[in-house]
Amino acid sequence: AHPDPCCFVIFGASGDLTRRLLLPALYNLAATDLMPERFALVGVARGEDTDDNFRATLEEALKQFSTRPLTRKTVARILKNVSYVQADPEQEGSFDRLRTHVEKVEADIGTGGNRIFYLATPPSGFAPIVTALGRSGLVKQTRDAWRRVIVEKPFGTDLASARKLNESLLDTLQEDQIFRMDHYLGKETVQNIMILRFANGLFEPLWNRNHIDHVQITVAETVDVGRRGKFYDATGALRDMVPNHMFQLLSLVAMEAPARFDAPAVRAAKSEVLQAIGQYTPAEAMKNSVRAAYEGGVVRGQKVTAYHETPDVPPDSATETYVAMKLMVDTWRWAGVPFYLRTGKALGVRKSEVAIKFKEAPFSMFRNTPVDRLAQNFLVLGIQPDETIKLHFNAKVPGPELEIGGVDMTFRYDDFFDAAPTTGYETLIYDCMTGDGMLFQRADAVEAGWAAVEPFQKAWAKADARDGSKDGGKDGSKNLATYPAGTDGPEEADRLIARDGRAWRPLL
Ligand code: BG6
Repeated sequence: AHPDPCCFVIFGASGDLTRRLLLPALYNLAATDLMPERFALVGVARGEDTDDNFRATLEEALKQFSTRPLTRKTVARILKNVSYVQADPEQEGSFDRLRTHVEKVEADIGTGGNRIFYLATPPSGFAPIVTALGRSGLVKQTRDAWRRVIVEKPFGTDLASARKLNESLLDTLQEDQIFRMDHYLGKETVQNIMILRFANGLFEPLWNRNHIDHVQITVAETVDVGRRGKFYDATGALRDMVPNHMFQLLSLVAMEAPARFDAPAVRAAKSEVLQAIGQYTPAEAMKNSVRAAYEGGVVRGQKVTAYHETPDVPPDSATETYVAMKLMVDTWRWAGVPFYLRTGKALGVRKSEVAIKFKEAPFSMFRNTPVDRLAQNFLVLGIQPDETIKLHFNAKVPGPELEIGGVDMTFRYDDFFDAAPTTGYETLIYDCMTGDGMLFQRADAVEAGWAAVEPFQKAWAKADARDGSKDGGKDGSKNLATYPAGTDGPEEADRLIARDGRAWRPLL
């Protein structure tokens, strides 16, 4: 169905996100006829630009980044009603000018007053822009017209800053006007976790502590920090990936069945999981986490320089490019079932997956194959680049002698569905246009995510303050482990899970 007519205002219109993802996503929506019939795009940024020049930039972006071949008709549809406004929340009167402009566009195009404001700016812009939108009256909803705001990540840098940002947004907006973006929720394979669990009768009866031994969540990346040194060194792997993307995966895997398939029920169920993540003492947080930075190495045939030699990274930086941790989810369903998480940059492969390890057979009647030599029953949800679901189990090796071997049953999305490549933003933008917040983060879930990582942040900061630099204190203790670029991460991460008599699924 076509969403309501609307005016789509992008803050940060001259930035990378707009060019790489937003424009191609809008294009894909138009190509599949899911755009509003009446639609206007207003670009906003601090610099001066003209409408024509801005339109040309967008056209160029489409040529460069579109995920599907362009047709002239669809390009024309997206770019027909494009305009540009210079505005800056710090500048007196500039949002009043923006309002005059938007109202004129609405009258000309007939978009009926519905507005989306997409904050594709650095995070320091979020609160000031929303405050200025509030002052100018641009986001006040009326009976006939909705007003929505999409907020990009990162949403805060810790619990306190996330709370502050929520408070500030909620001074101006109502919760249902705010769409907090986590692009992992736009991935088909991530959304499919809920379908797998709740559209099938097969898995759910096993989906608990009686049958599941542990869960592994991996987001391995081959990209290194490269030119993002300034952003990355202030962020690190924990903040960049864990409370947002990895916790989306965790909460979809661990949530209770919601009472209804709608935004309030699903978001409540996900938020409850994050609130149930056990709070560690500082000593426990240290013991149950590993942080590391990559050394020089070779990733997919390319030489990568050590993190500490990256531009804008101080040589004694204690920022981690890899983190592994063990978390417990204190609910009846999950008590005693560890969730092991690991994510890192400059690793040997790009692979995101959730692996669910079932308990082993209670005993083995196959005398030459004791239980510990049987293949382990893993259900592996491949998120990217392999979009698969795999079940690993035991089978008889053909032959007169009884031998048992591990085999895989594999479902590949590609074998069944013929989906055109997307940016992953289409569903999320479409959902915002139709007012469906299910795939966006509610305030309490964001805060619960930060609360769950806070013990690690605090314990690490304390250890660094005590020991100084990355190489640790006089006692030779190292706070930051290392791994050569192009490998599967630090040995310390292997030890973290080996301590419990378990092992990571091999990465390489
Ligand atoms: C972003 C992080 O949010 O997600 C990046 O800031 C990371 O550091 C990226 O590379 C990963 O996204 P994807 O879709 O490539 O898995």
